[in-house]
Amino acid sequence: MIGIGNDHAGTELKLAIIKHLEEQGIEYIDYGVAPGEAIDYPDAAEKVCLDIQNGKLEKAILVCGTGIGISIAANKMKGIRACACSDTFSAKYTRLHNDANALCLGGRVVGAGLACELVDIFLSTEFEGGRHQRRVDLITALENK
Ligand code: RB5
Repeated sequence: MIGIGNDHAGTELKLAIIKHLEEQGIEYIDYGVAPGEAIDYPDAAEKVCLDIQNGKLEKAILVCGTGIGISIAANKMKGIRACACSDTFSAKYTRLHNDANALCLGGRVVGAGLACELVDIFLSTEFEGGRHQRRVDLITALENK
């Protein structure tokens, strides 16, 4: 299951991404705020990422104004590997090499068309494993220091 979360600066882009997921029949849970509502981006990140930690969600899409604040917050949580992306190369390689489980997008940075392409790449690209697994394990070790 995919979770999607947003703060108030990410609402419009979140709605465009939801439409895109629905058109493809991809199931999701919306943890974000609705138009006219507000939430601080660390709280928006936490709501979704708790459900990655407990296994309810496989991956998350997180949207704030830049994609950066919500990624910084998400990356403070154990087991979360969040990447703020605004190009297709990064969206692909953060899956292949980092086994990222949260794609963070900036509602004030990327348009809906590019954002949906980034989502498609992120959701369809498998982790490469191999030598990259050791590096992901080192990230996990950092979390436990
Ligand atoms: C909210 O105005 C904005 O600061 C937030 O969405 C985000 O851009 C932070 O990184």
